[in-house]
Parts: sequence; C-alpha cells; structure tokens
Amino acid sequence: MKRIGILTAGGDTPALNAAIHGAVVRANQLKIEVVGLIKGFNCLFNPRVPHVHLNPLFQSIPELDPTKGGTLIGSSRDYVDPSRGHELDLIVSRLCSLKIEGLIAVGGDGTLNGLQPLAERLPTVLAPKTIDNDLGLNYPSEPDEWVRTAEPGATNGRRYTRTPSSTVFDLNHIVNYATPGYATAVFVTAQGVQRIRTTAESHRRIAIIEVMGRHSGYIALGTAYGQPDIILVPEQPIDMTLLVERVRHLYDLQKNVVIVCGEGIVDEDGKELGAMSTSTDPAGNVALSGAAEALRAKMMEMLGDRYFQRYRRGETAREAIFIRKVGHTQRGGRPILFDRFYAAQLGSKAVDLLVEGRNNAVSVLQYHADRGFYVEGYDANRFRDRWGYIHARRLHPALYDPLLMRPSKMGIDYLLPIFTDAIGNDDAEHMRQTLFDAGNLSHPYHSINTDVHKRIRYLEAETP
Ligand code: F6P
Repeated sequence: MKRIGILTAGGDTPALNAAIHGAVVRANQLKIEVVGLIKGFNCLFNPRVPHVHLNPLFQSIPELDPTKGGTLIGSSRDYVDPSRGHELDLIVSRLCSLKIEGLIAVGGDGTLNGLQPLAERLPTVLAPKTIDNDLGLNYPSEPDEWVRTAEPGATNGRRYTRTPSSTVFDLNHIVNYATPGYATAVFVTAQGVQRIRTTAESHRRIAIIEVMGRHSGYIALGTAYGQPDIILVPEQPIDMTLLVERVRHLYDLQKNVVIVCGEGIVDEDGKELGAMSTSTDPAGNVALSGAAEALRAKMMEMLGDRYFQRYRRGETAREAIFIRKVGHTQRGGRPILFDRFYAAQLGSKAVDLLVEGRNNAVSVLQYHADRGFYVEGYDANRFRDRWGYIHARRLHPALYDPLLMRPSKMGIDYLLPIFTDAIGNDDAEHMRQTLFDAGNLSHPYHSINTDVHKRIRYLEAETP
C-alpha cells in the first residue's frame, strides 16, 4: 500500500490524536502516505472530500500532537447507511480518486456497525475509541447469545434480547479489555466525585453525580476510585427501596451521601430513567439526559421533607439533594498516559492490519494476567450477532455487586490493570507547568482548527 486514509468518527474522545499519531508513525516507517479525512464520514458525503496530508515526505505534521484531546481532523456522527449502495459507490470512487488504497476508521461500536459495506468495496479496518468502553466482548462467544424478535414499536421493529449465558466469565478472555478514552474519562469523573464530596460533607447534603457511558456502566464502575458511597449502573435495575434504605443508613452515620449513577440507569421495569424524551442523535442513539434528575425526584418523594427537617439539615428534600452531571469534561482535554500509549499502539496496529491484507478487522487491546496488555487483530465479523449487528458491550454482572452497590471483587480486579499506572509523571507535570501559565491570561486561545485549515486540500475545486 502506498496511500491510506484515516478518519475519526462519532463523539470525540481524548485519545483520538494519539491513535492517529500511532498510525502515522507506523506509516512513516513503512513509507505509506496518510491522508486525514476531515470530519469523519461527513467528508465522504461531500464531493469535494476535504482532506489533509498528515505525513508529507513521511514526516508527521507538527499539528499532530498525541497529548492533545479531540481530533485534529474533526469528527461527526455521520454514518454510512448500508442500504444506500449508490452512496457507497460514490464514497469509494471518491477515495479511489484520492488514490487511497485502504481506510482506517477510528471509532466505536456505531462506526464498526456501518463499516461492513465499505469493507466489501475497499480494505477497511477499525482502531477503537470510546469513553464508554463498550466496544468489545465479555467473551468471544457473546454475540451468539443475542436473539432477535419482531416487535412493533421497537427501533426498526425489532427487539434484541439475551439468552442466558453458559460461559464462565474470565477477565483473561475479554475481547478488547479497555478502549482508549475510558481511562481519561474515569480520571475526570473520579476527581469530580472527590470535589463534590467536600461540599456534600460541609453542607450535609446528598449528591447525585451522573456520568456518561450510555447503556454501559464502565465509567460509573471506574468512578469507584473517587470513593462515592453508592454506584448505580445501567445493567442493574434500581431497587428503590434498597437504595433509600442504604441512603438513610449512610446519611444517619456521616451526614452526607455521594451517589454516582450512569446516564443509562433503569428502574425495576427496565425503563431508562434518563430517557426524558425519545430524541435520538444522528446515529440513532437515544439521548439520555435526565437520569440524575429522575433519581432525585424519586428520592425526594421517598425521603420527604420531614426527614431533613428532623435533622435540621434543610427545610426540604429538594434543598438537601442536589445533582451534578460531569458532562463533556469527561470526553475532552489531554488524555492520560494509559490512553495515549494504547491508542497509539492500536492506531499503529491498524496500519499493520491493512498492510497484511486483514480487511474488515479491528485492532484490539488484550489483557492477560501473565502477559499484561498487548494488541492484536480481531475480525470485525466476530463482534457481530447472527444478523450482523454489533451490540454495545455491557458490564458483565460479575463485575458489580448489586447489594453493596459498588464494584465486586472481580470488578476491582478488572479495574486494577487499567488504572494502577494510568497516570504518567508528565501528566501531573503538564498541569503544573501549563494551567497557571501567565500567558493564558494575555493570549487568546489558538485553535488547532485554524492551523489544520491551512493544510486542507479538496478533490474538486469549489463551484463558483
Ligand atoms: O458515546 C460517547 C458519549 O459521550 C456517551 O457517553 C454520551 O451518551 C454521548 O456520547 C453524548 O453524545 P453527545 O456529545 O452527542 O451529546
């Protein structure tokens, strides 16, 4: 291969530039040109195909900084629709006009779902990223456990359910143990909990902190590092009676409670608390935006104002129970060492997969207790159920203790390899040196987009 394309798709994560950097460094070694496609798949729907040459003369451009969050080539939630064959043909002909012989998409499960039809027309591989940590399998046979039934009213008229598993869960068998972006997201949420805690303690309040992750509870699980009292994950329907009992016990004891909830938490009937509206993003994902609010409303009702008045800790439950969403700070900013290092390795592996002719493959981060972390290639089809659909990975029940409402022993064992050395010395030093730099006060922010824009080239000239 002489020239490959790379794009970043879906929501941004902190380690996208690191993945691109890893790919470009490997391509430089192999004397392959890398073309960055601007704004994910959106670029390919545009006949002008805005793009950037990322390694002229096989040297990475200086704007490609693996320690910077976001993505220098931009991202979008546009996906390829497999049923639109004509559009796909156009996309491939545009890539061919650019002399692109293979494509790397850096993305999550949504991106991988849309990749098959492209891979049938052009060598295509995926380098994973997502803060949600939901691209992967708890064990290789997991896709076979899905069953699809017709159900009017469900998305596309189909409902997917799981048959009981007969597989013994083993951490060493997880496919794609952790995805780049996850560690940095937890780095942010765990600190968020520590900061909220002192307010809850000082003002005798109950804090509900909502973290991202859609229907997967990995971010909530990892937030255990911030020592919240209770963690609620989407995989375990909430038992409100048990929850309120636990809150009362803790509040009596320590005069404050900190609860972390994943944005996708569900009630006893499996209904998402946070799906306040049925709005979806362009990729068809339900926008989850109200989990903490809904939980607060339930708790206010069950605890009541009198409970707080009795303690002289506020006139109303509304006053005493507050919510905070960590929000997009989880997704942005400098990636911590774990993410940078493995994102780069996965990007580099993606180049190797293309060169080796492993079309429609994914570079994955594997872990084994005897060997530590290592990257390898995994056929994308092995992520698919028998109807070809890729499901977001959900927390295995063995990782969470529903009675204690925190990580189980195995959950702790899962987290340790990722986080024990996740922060580099340079991460702490970077903050020390740059945050209170006097120049920040006098110089306007200089966006990477301004510099990259100067490098953008087009397939076709603009029509006057
Ligand atoms: O998939 C990553 C993620 O950050 C989810 O955790 C969250 O639900 C969603 O994206 C938010 O998307 P957006 O930034 O488009 O609101």
